Amino acid sequence: MPDPTRPQAIADLPAPRGLPLLGNALQLQPATIHLAMERWSREYGPMFRARIGPREVVVLSDSAAITAVLRDRPDGFRRPSITAEVSAELGGNVGLFLAEGDVWRNQRRMVMHAFSPTAIRAYFDRMVQVAQRLEARWHAAGEHEIDLNADLKRYAVDVIAGLAFGADVNTIESGGNAIQEHVETVLAGVARRSLLPFRYWRWFRLPADRRLERSVRAVREATDGFIADARAAMAADPALREQPANMLQAMLAAADQPDSGVDDCGVAGNVTTMLLAGEDTTSSALAWLIWLLWQNPAVLARVQDEVRRNVSSLTPESIGTLDYLDACALEAMRLKPPAPFLPLQALRDTTVMGVALPKDTLLWCVLRHDSVDDKAFPDAQRFDPERWLAGKADKGVALPFGAGPRMCPGRYLSLMEMKVAMAVLLGRFDIVGVRAGDRTEPAEVQGFVMGPTALRMRLRPAQAGAGA
Ligand code: HEM
Repeated sequence: MPDPTRPQAIADLPAPRGLPLLGNALQLQPATIHLAMERWSREYGPMFRARIGPREVVVLSDSAAITAVLRDRPDGFRRPSITAEVSAELGGNVGLFLAEGDVWRNQRRMVMHAFSPTAIRAYFDRMVQVAQRLEARWHAAGEHEIDLNADLKRYAVDVIAGLAFGADVNTIESGGNAIQEHVETVLAGVARRSLLPFRYWRWFRLPADRRLERSVRAVREATDGFIADARAAMAADPALREQPANMLQAMLAAADQPDSGVDDCGVAGNVTTMLLAGEDTTSSALAWLIWLLWQNPAVLARVQDEVRRNVSSLTPESIGTLDYLDACALEAMRLKPPAPFLPLQALRDTTVMGVALPKDTLLWCVLRHDSVDDKAFPDAQRFDPERWLAGKADKGVALPFGAGPRMCPGRYLSLMEMKVAMAVLLGRFDIVGVRAGDRTEPAEVQGFVMGPTALRMRLRPAQAGAGA
């Protein structure tokens, strides 16, 4: 008989049946791994174990237990060490996402200066400038179909690159951007190397490894250039220390404070971290939001009306009045979170839901489980933004931005960015149609974030006097 006063062991947890040696690897494809873990959570309960190749992971889907774990950072849990190790081996500068312990504490303090409400307000004009370029692009498309995923990504890249680099990359008008492409190569390379069981590149390099190393060098050189430019601008105009025009200036001003504990390498690590953390997340959230609005005509009509009545010009004040749009964004992220899971690693022996987890246990937190359960959100599969108004929804159950001390620092910025883009879309255009290629529903694809398969949108300019 198990002793109920003693913690259970991981071995006592249920587990989906796997294959010898391979474990559950063949049942877990990278693009749909979130769906498999969610399905197993429904089948095996709030805590079970799975095996990805040689690695055993404990999977947790109870939102209260997840919140407690997320709060037990940076001392109790960390992000899995493998990614930080691969990145360090490549000589990358550590940014907030991969930092741990005191390095994380110092960087978090520095980075939060760049996300203060006053700082975010200062970035507003930049968002409007980019949103107006998007508007011009959509006007030029006439009633032709728009590649929605690509256009939203351009919008997010231009906003975040402007803020993180202080440079106008303008992919909306000019197409690609070399630095952003190098950053994406680095991200894909680090992700790939983190998943491989054998570190072959220490003995020989494939063409992909040479490309990866070239991109690491290119990112480092470009970032050093952006930092030098920002320092020159701040020397020429010292007022920028108090009122920085972009995140890079805000981070440098904070790093220059005595005892900040952050040098220019720490700032450089965060320039690329912001670019990576801020592009696909926001553009996927926007794409899902537009899809869900198109599927729910009454909600679309109501939010369009809110925008057209409140936004005669794009200002922080007019955008600040869009409560229903805010609720629509939260509801879209409840159903379609860009980050549907968070992997962590225990830093010491600990107990979660009565199960003893030894130090180094990998813990896979399923963020979308309770948030789509009828017990927490009645008729949970329904897209109903109303539930977020007047504090009706339990915000502690849906965790699109994580929780605890490492909760996403970009949450207000991204919500503002989403609302600016939506104010342009809903104020200036009528949506004629949104379709998911040949499918009835877009599929969920997990890459760096969880986004929809290709969406195509057709627009018509709104009647004159319709707002924005
Ligand atoms: C809809 C948009 C976004 C979503 C859904 C999102 C989601 C998340 C999530 C789930 C985490 C992990 C939180 C945790 O561990 O508890 C995170 C962390 C982070 N996010 Fe976001 N994010 C978004 C936009 C942004 C933007 C725009 C930026 C920056 C410009 C950003 C920067 C970061 C950074 C730096 C971290 C690491 C924080 C740390 O470890 O201390 N995110 N984000």
